[in-house]
Amino acid sequence: MDRSANAPSPIPFWLAGRPATGDAELAVTNSHDGRVVGVYSVPTAEQVEQAVAAADAVRKQAAALPIHVRAEALGHVARRLAERAEEIAQLISGENGKPVFWARGEVNRAISTFRFAAEETRRFSGAVQRLDTEPAAQGRLAYISRVPHGPVLAITPFNFPLNLVAHKVAPAIAVGAPVIVKPAPATPLSALVLGEILAETNLPEGMFSVLPVPNDRAGALVEDPRLPVVSFTGSGPVGYALMDQVPRKHVTLELGGNGAAVVLADADLDWAAARVALFSNYQAGQSCISVQRVIVEESVRERFTEKLLAAVDALVTGDPSDEKTQVGPLVSVAAAERVEQWVKEAVEAGARVLAGGTRDGAAVAPTVLADVPADAKLACEEVFGPVMIIQPVASVDEAFAAVNDSKYGLQAGVFTRDLDIAFRANRELEVGGVIIGDVPSFRADQMPYGGVKQSGVGREGLLSAMNDFTYEKVMVLTGLTL
Ligand code: SIN
Repeated sequence: MDRSANAPSPIPFWLAGRPATGDAELAVTNSHDGRVVGVYSVPTAEQVEQAVAAADAVRKQAAALPIHVRAEALGHVARRLAERAEEIAQLISGENGKPVFWARGEVNRAISTFRFAAEETRRFSGAVQRLDTEPAAQGRLAYISRVPHGPVLAITPFNFPLNLVAHKVAPAIAVGAPVIVKPAPATPLSALVLGEILAETNLPEGMFSVLPVPNDRAGALVEDPRLPVVSFTGSGPVGYALMDQVPRKHVTLELGGNGAAVVLADADLDWAAARVALFSNYQAGQSCISVQRVIVEESVRERFTEKLLAAVDALVTGDPSDEKTQVGPLVSVAAAERVEQWVKEAVEAGARVLAGGTRDGAAVAPTVLADVPADAKLACEEVFGPVMIIQPVASVDEAFAAVNDSKYGLQAGVFTRDLDIAFRANRELEVGGVIIGDVPSFRADQMPYGGVKQSGVGREGLLSAMNDFTYEKVMVLTGLTL
C-alpha cells in the first residue's frame, strides 16, 4: 500500500513477544462505510522464520512454566481486556462490521475465556492411579499427566476476531505451549491488541507471536515441522486442504454448519420466534452456529411463521456503530453478493421470499424463505449470511431426520418442553451439541464445542482444547509400600 511521508506508522505485529514491523502494509476497512479502520504491518518471510524458531526454542521452558506463572498471565489478559473493553469492542465492530452490541458481547466472552483458562490451568494436575489392583503390579503407582505436543499454530477466522483467537491462545498458554497466531487478513486488529496485552505479562520470549500474514503464506507455517499442532477455525474446503497437507500433524478443525432449529408443537412459540429471528441474523448470520434451517412441526407452522416474521421485521438493521443496531453488514460487499446470489438461485428454483431478499452494499436484509428445494445451496451448504429457510415436517421423527439430512453436524437447537424428546434429541441428532429450549447458536465458552461430519475434528472450550493440545503421559513408580 502507498503511504505518504506524513501517514501514521502502521500497527506493529508481535514477533516472539516484541512489536515489529515488516516491509509491507495492509489496510483494514469497515464494510459499512468503507473507512480505513487501521493499517497493519505484514511480517517478512525472515520474520516469520524468527517467530517459529523462537517458539521452538522456548518449547521446553514453556512446558515447565510453573502453573502460577501461566495462571497469572492468563488472569492479567482477562483483567486488561476488561479494562480496555469499550475500545476493543469499537475496534472489533470497526474491523468486522458487527454491531457494537455484539462486539461488546464478544469482548465479554473473551474475558471469560481467559478467566476460565486461568482457572483450568490451576486444576490441570493430572491423576494418580494405583496399579496394585493386580499381584503383578504390587508396589507400583502411576502418575498420569498431560504434556503439550509442542508449539501451536492458531489460524483464526474473521467472524469472531477476538474470541476465536482467545479460544486457541488461552488454552495453549494454560498447558505451557508456545502459540503463533495467524489472524484473518480482513480482521487482524483485535488479535494485535491481544498481542499487546500478552506482551505485558511475564511469559518467556517466544511464547507467543501474532503474525498477520496473507492466507497464501499460511501454507509454509502449516508445513513447518516445528509447529506440531495446527488449530484451524474457518471454512471446510480450506480446513480439509490444510489437513491433507500435513496428515501426520495434530490438526484440529472447527468448520462450518448449517444450523437447524427445530420448533416442535409443544414449544413456547413466542420465545422460539424471537430467538430464531435474532440468531439467524446476529452478526449478519456470520457464525457457524447461526440458525439457517428452521424445521417446524406442521401443526404450528402457520402460527409460528407469523410470529417469526413479526420478530424479523422488528430487528433493527443498519449502521453497526449505532447502539441500537442488531443486524449490520457482512464482512465485505463480495460476501454479501455471494449470499444474494444463493437467494436468487433458490428463488429461481421455486423458493418463496417471505421477508428480505435484498442487498444494499455489504448489507443483506434479514431474509426468510419457504419452499426451498432440497438441493438448493441454501438448504445444503453453509450460507454464512442473514438467511433462514423454513422446512415444515409432520412429526418429531421427520424433524430429527431433517436435522441429520446435512453433511454438517455442529450444533442443533430443539424447542420443546418434553424431557423425553430432549433426551431423544440428544441420542439421535448427529451433532456436537444439542441445545434444548433454544437456538443452536448458544455457546458458553467453557463447554466443549465442535462438530461431527464435515463440521470438523476435535473440540474447543477451555478444558477440551487443553486436552487437545496435550497428550497423556504415564510415569510408573516402583517398589512402593502403598
Ligand atoms: C463459530 O462461528 O464457530 C463460533 C461461534 C461462537 O463462538 O459463538
